[in-house]
Amino acid sequence: MKHITILAIETSCDDTSASIISDGIIQSNIISSQLNHTKLGGVVPEIASREHQKNIIFIVEKALNEANKRKKDLDAVAFTNGPGLLGSLLVGSSFAKSFSYGLKIPLIAVDHISAHALSHTINQKNPVFPFISLIVSGGHTQVVLVQSYDNIDIIGETRDDAVGEAFDKCAKIIGLDYPGGPLIDKLSIEGDENKFQFPNTKVPDFDFSFSGIKTSFLYFIRDNLKKDNRFIEKNLHHISASIQNKLIDMLIDNLLKVTSKYNIKEISIGGGVAANSLLRKKINFISKENNWNVYIPKISFCTDNAAMIANYANFMFKDSKFSDISVVPYSRL
Ligand code: KG4
Ligand code: ZN
Repeated sequence: MKHITILAIETSCDDTSASIISDGIIQSNIISSQLNHTKLGGVVPEIASREHQKNIIFIVEKALNEANKRKKDLDAVAFTNGPGLLGSLLVGSSFAKSFSYGLKIPLIAVDHISAHALSHTINQKNPVFPFISLIVSGGHTQVVLVQSYDNIDIIGETRDDAVGEAFDKCAKIIGLDYPGGPLIDKLSIEGDENKFQFPNTKVPDFDFSFSGIKTSFLYFIRDNLKKDNRFIEKNLHHISASIQNKLIDMLIDNLLKVTSKYNIKEISIGGGVAANSLLRKKINFISKENNWNVYIPKISFCTDNAAMIANYANFMFKDSKFSDISVVPYSRL
């Protein structure tokens, strides 16, 4: 039987990524992160789309070369159709559409969040359904029930900031570079997570809210700096560990509520914040107490990457879920 080979492109935010999947196995996953946003303190949409435009041909060529494939080997081309920054999405979608048109191969429009939710099934032959997935990144915070690859219900989501955004904003308040999430994670290793306490945020149903904790954190730092202008440098590790602990507990508490309501013990996590070491540690610990089977993708499949788009497109290909060239990217759900 002929192996199905798909090229996938991901350009929803500031990472330009291309991946080749062949016979259900990822052959390459090239990611180019746009470092210039670090200096600017966050992703600047206009710059992100221009950088995608510069990177995309080179990244796609690299993905093909690393997979030892040529354009004529491709059976379909997939791309992230949303949600994301519109200018960024347009670069990937226009590129994929031209490829599909020029090579006369099907086009597959993939939803970014669904791809994150299924990212632990990458390179797995028989994924288990149903499962609960916690998708946590700089742009999204959701807990979803996945009955099958194309039957995903949102159980809860953030009403304001995403948890990665909360990490990044708190990091900025204490003078760390963007993205601050990984830096907070690193600094926390030597900190006491119970040294500082932050107030609880009450959110109805299974939703999340992170704007209140961010404001409490801002006031906490401001008030302590008034008393001691070296407060941050003296306590950097403890501050990082304490805010990280609070943000991660907010995720875990909700996940526990959802899993007990739905009585599902198959749990996955995905998105950039799934790279967080405390989240991984706590989920692994709780899974033993609750008899969960936890699926945590390797870090390069947690942060934005085209392998997860290729993986999802592979499911869609089998059901001939192809898109017309007129399909329009969407910036929000
Ligand atoms: O999935 P992703 O690469 O892009 C989006 O779709 O947003 O996630 C990026 C987010 C950023 O907010 C970054 O600070 C956060 O994930 N992040 C982390 C860690 N690694 C990445 N947050 C906490 N701890 C980490 N180790
Ligand atoms: Zn993402």
